[in-house]
Amino acid sequence: MGKILIMDHPLIQHKLSILRDKNTGSKEFRALISEIATLICYEATRDLPLEEIEIETPICVAKTKTIAGKKMAVVPILRAGLGMVDGMLALVPSARVGHIGLYRDPATLNPVEYYCKLPADIEEREVFVVDPMLATGGSAIDAITQIKKRGPKHIKFLGIIAAPEGLDALAKAHPDVDIYLASLDEKLNDHAYIIPGLGDAGDRIFGTK
Ligand code: PRP
Ligand code: URA
Repeated sequence: MGKILIMDHPLIQHKLSILRDKNTGSKEFRALISEIATLICYEATRDLPLEEIEIETPICVAKTKTIAGKKMAVVPILRAGLGMVDGMLALVPSARVGHIGLYRDPATLNPVEYYCKLPADIEEREVFVVDPMLATGGSAIDAITQIKKRGPKHIKFLGIIAAPEGLDALAKAHPDVDIYLASLDEKLNDHAYIIPGLGDAGDRIFGTK
């Protein structure tokens, strides 16, 4: 089973409260999604391998550490995942960015894929799939299934809010994927929205409602 980490850092919990508030406007909402993505990325990159290098400080020669040439890709699930990309790139600016477009059919709640463009060398990369919301899990499961067909080295899923139903489904469908979240909420409602959640993440990021 992959790692499942719910981050309880005070900064994340504080920012999440503002994010959930229905009175928070799109500008602040986007900034908070990005900041939380940076904080989750900090934890999700904790196990990157290091190698020793030799550098010269103004005082002496020193043996220090550097990240061991690890190649990374960030893959947002459109649309809401786009909101997390800048926050990820703030810490890993050399990562390539792929895109996978999925929306939930409002009647069946099943994900429908409409776009997929991934880095050509994705099989050499560690992939960070990002989407703020993990509700039924259908979108994340489908996106990861598509990405796995291209044979990346390892996949991590970074989300902000999950429902227990979605977390269970993702962990069962892709037990090799590590999952990082800011909150595990109570449940889904009859329309598969997360309770208490934050509403429709895509609409709140892009101001479409
Ligand atoms: C939202 C969200 C996730 C998905 C989660 O996207 O950003 O991708 O729902 O739900 P699931 O776990 O039940 O699949 P949505 O389908 O609303 O598309 P959008 O981002 O384009 O608005
Ligand atoms: N997608 C969202 O944006 N919000 C939810 O609560 C569930 C799915």
